[in-house]
Amino acid sequence: MKPTILLVFLLLGFTSAYKILVAFPYPGKSHSILGEGFVKRLLKAGHEVTYITPHLMKDPPKQLRQVDVSSNINLFGETLSHLSFEKVIKKEVNLRDTRAWVEVIDEIANQTLWHPNVQKLMLDTNEQFDLVIAEWLYTELYCGFATVFNCPLVWSSSIDPHGLVLGLIDEEPNPAYTANHMSSSEAPFTFAQRLDELWEVVYLKYMKWAIYDYENKVFQEGYGPAVAKRGRQMPSLYEASHNASLMFGNSHYSSGRPVRLPQNYIPIAGYHIDDEVKPLPEDLQKIMDTAEHGVIYFSMGSMIKSSSMPEEVKKGFLDTLGSLKQTVIWKFEEMLPNRPKNVHIVKWAPQQSILAHPNCILFISHGGLLSTSEALHYGVPIIGMPMFADQFINVDRAVKKGFALGVNIVADTHVYLKAAINEFLGNPRYREIMKELSFVYHHRIATPGAELVHWVDHVIKTRGAPHLRSPALGVPTYQKMYLDLAALILFVIFVLYTIVKRLFCIRQVKKVKKN
Ligand SMILES: *[C@@H]1O[C@H](CO)[C@@H](O)[C@H](O)[C@H]1NC(C)=O
Ligand SMILES: *[C@@H]1O[C@H](CO)[C@@H](O)[C@H](O)[C@H]1NC(C)=O
Repeated sequence: MKPTILLVFLLLGFTSAYKILVAFPYPGKSHSILGEGFVKRLLKAGHEVTYITPHLMKDPPKQLRQVDVSSNINLFGETLSHLSFEKVIKKEVNLRDTRAWVEVIDEIANQTLWHPNVQKLMLDTNEQFDLVIAEWLYTELYCGFATVFNCPLVWSSSIDPHGLVLGLIDEEPNPAYTANHMSSSEAPFTFAQRLDELWEVVYLKYMKWAIYDYENKVFQEGYGPAVAKRGRQMPSLYEASHNASLMFGNSHYSSGRPVRLPQNYIPIAGYHIDDEVKPLPEDLQKIMDTAEHGVIYFSMGSMIKSSSMPEEVKKGFLDTLGSLKQTVIWKFEEMLPNRPKNVHIVKWAPQQSILAHPNCILFISHGGLLSTSEALHYGVPIIGMPMFADQFINVDRAVKKGFALGVNIVADTHVYLKAAINEFLGNPRYREIMKELSFVYHHRIATPGAELVHWVDHVIKTRGAPHLRSPALGVPTYQKMYLDLAALILFVIFVLYTIVKRLFCIRQVKKVKKN
């Protein structure tokens, strides 16, 4: 055979292009970055991707079709308008409690299902997919796309594995030694912590139970017509959501906890990070190359606008950063007057390329999970100033692991920030630990991107990978805890006790009669 023909045969045999639907309708920017991570990897592997997203990717390639649900951003905007730096400082909003968000999240899900673009996709019976990848974020509702297109479902979970997601593919981890996703406790627990963890499991179960009827209604009404049009019956939300082939987790034990995992949970933290570092813009490249004492990169992410910072806080930061020998690159939405010479403000920052530069010695961050992954990837230690949701636990955990220092956001945060920077500059420990953990992070059998592509292929080729399905899924709690056996033993003891008591009574009666 001629080499070219052989090549064609090889290509035919090894590259199969599949049609994959990626559903990430939640309008948070970091969630869209995770969604895009899937899209980019799958496109690169030669698949055809349909992407339901509120943040459209620019210049999409031919094999990518985007389903625009950008109106979700408005729904989110109302909630977000409550968030500002000032309110965090004054503790007017309790941003730690994500549970309060569940209702907003369900509202976003319902609006997504009823979005004309989404209904059009679902109601078109010519549309077919080989796989659906759906984000889990406090709701299971997006599993319905797999129901509509009658294909295997893969969950994506954006944080460390926890009971709410593991329950979908296996079972709740034991709270006696597994902290819940909003807890900073580390096992082994004290008695009080153990109670607290158990209570949290019960509470979350109750929360999901209380909202189930509503969610199932959204599920039936939203997907029902499309499923009926395809001539099938709707399952319940419970059945559909517990039918996933696999779960990808944006997690890894280098930054998270060593939670015991089922076979079909695949941790792929870092998959959103580009394989190759993009070159820096010329001005930044020059600033970083010539930074004699190293570069400190400062970015509070995109969730809360830094420009909502009160003036005195801005001034405090500028004074603190200006007093350093190091060069500072500060990602900030506005240009500040009276900037010290060593502080460079950029409206947009190529974060990965900055962290990848060998002169970058420290990352001052809000402690979001993506930023933390990127810091681990490039081995740059962190000073975390958490503001929102999981950022608090991410920072707590990073501090416990020893690669970060935490600073609370208060009116005079810059004083604490200065102390933290001084501690960091005077103590090589943080950098050393970060180097070690970065090694753990990179020391995998395959890169997270390669794992992603492999497991997608595996699920499709094995039509849903039923061999990975956990047998724990269908077993009720009372059977897992052998409560039926306990009940049986108690019953037998009771019966024996009654019989013995009867016999004893009869003998007593006989004795009495004799006398
Ligand atoms: C579960 O998933 C399989 C494919 O992986 C599909 O054939 C089946 O219909 C699904 N069942 C439900 C209840 O969604
Ligand atoms: C979902 O949204 C649709 C369209 O806006 C609305 O008619 C319906 O009542 C909503 N469903 C629920 C359960 O709230």
